[in-house]
Amino acid sequence: MVSRVIPVDAFDLVIFGGTGDLAKRKILPGLYRRFLQGQMTEDSRIIGAARADLDDAGFRQMVAEAIEEFVPENRRDAAVIAAFLEKISYISIDALGVTGWDRLKAAVRPDMVRAFYFSVAPSLFGDIAERLHTHGIAHAESRIVVEKPFGRDLASAKALNAVLAKHFNEAQIYRIDHYLGKETVQNLMAVRFANILFEPLWKAEYVDHVQITVAETVSVEGRGAYYDKSGAMRDMVQNHMMQLLCLIAMEPPYHFDPDAVRDEKLKVIRALSPVQPDDIVRGQYRAGNGEGGYLEHCEDANSKTESYIALKTTVSNWRWQGTPFYLRTGKRLRARASEIAITFKQPPHAIFDNESGWHENVLVIRLQPDEGMNLMVMIKEPGPGGMRMMQVPLDMSFAEALGDEAEDVPDAYERLIMDVIRGNQTLFMRGDEVESAWAWTDPIIQGWEARGDKPQAYDAGSSGPEDALMLMHRDGRRWREIKK
Ligand code: BG6
Repeated sequence: MVSRVIPVDAFDLVIFGGTGDLAKRKILPGLYRRFLQGQMTEDSRIIGAARADLDDAGFRQMVAEAIEEFVPENRRDAAVIAAFLEKISYISIDALGVTGWDRLKAAVRPDMVRAFYFSVAPSLFGDIAERLHTHGIAHAESRIVVEKPFGRDLASAKALNAVLAKHFNEAQIYRIDHYLGKETVQNLMAVRFANILFEPLWKAEYVDHVQITVAETVSVEGRGAYYDKSGAMRDMVQNHMMQLLCLIAMEPPYHFDPDAVRDEKLKVIRALSPVQPDDIVRGQYRAGNGEGGYLEHCEDANSKTESYIALKTTVSNWRWQGTPFYLRTGKRLRARASEIAITFKQPPHAIFDNESGWHENVLVIRLQPDEGMNLMVMIKEPGPGGMRMMQVPLDMSFAEALGDEAEDVPDAYERLIMDVIRGNQTLFMRGDEVESAWAWTDPIIQGWEARGDKPQAYDAGSSGPEDALMLMHRDGRRWREIKK
């Protein structure tokens, strides 16, 4: 059912930062999987570019090890791996100097899709973009791919956009938010816009509230230095959570077209009301269950950075007036569970007795693990004894629906890289979206800094800080349980 794989045009993909963590974990294993599926064609080439003094053989060895580590065994085929490695070469390059650029110019071929993945620190974006131009390596159709963090506030995001805009136009820039590449996230658009069932109810009149949860079990150990300068607000809320909120709240675009979709998302971000200090809870995990606390992992005993956020916001427009959106995300929580839950209101008139019991209709979209959807509906409890109601799920698990082929569904990075080659920007953030998201986030962070707010401690392995529960209780609502 899955495997209508349509090969993309032949390409030259240059990965700056080709020896880095992201390249090893996601980009290179992902490209291998696309090659295995026949989507990356034989005449495509991948060029690793980084400072390390490696030759082609050394880089291929690194790629082979990455495949070994990050591709499941039943998808590792020795002959296909060997053929894939032949497509790969390496150029040792100095992003700030002259070494390697002429070799790169000679390596890229005419008449191929040409893409440059900037898997490097944002401080290098400008230098690389400039050298690609001065050496005549980038042409008018070249595409560049950039990763988050895209700035750390509005001013720095604007500066980054300006640096890139010097050499590339918006249609050439692919800003990755890997959440947009997740299968279920795209399914959210399919569910909303390819069915008549939900859309008539998709508004304040019928929706009581929306909960978006991205709960992680991982700590920040190993990446504390980056994380401590960022925190959950910059690391997760400003980008991933905000994108999820946009897909839930946006108006139907006139067509599934990159700018039509992004225009509608942008309107949502602009309509987000400012978050009041009482409507946001920050947390920081402390040691527990034999594991270290945040302060050990970030190596700053006085850090006030949050590893958890819960907040309430509203979308100030006709559709959503009065419907709260509750967002929460955190590290070292009880379980890895990410979901969006849309809780509907009560029917307007109750014909059954109060004792019959009543539960809300809830549409749960599970992003991970066990991707799928669940619609909680009320039915009569079977058997005699009158009309007692019970809540049952209409359950759709993608793994069950797809069977064995579920394993071949491309992961977020694979899909997004193929979209870059296809020239489809629908699932990438436009510059104005990123800036608007920062414009909403900045005052929140500035408020904490001005007041010297400290995050509330929560136990590692718990559901987060107590105050986060209160955020909903005081509205007469409650969070859904975080469970595996
Ligand atoms: C990244 C964040 O963007 O997303 C990480 O920097 C986070 O802190 C990760 O762990 C979560 O991604 P996923 O796909 O595992 O939910």
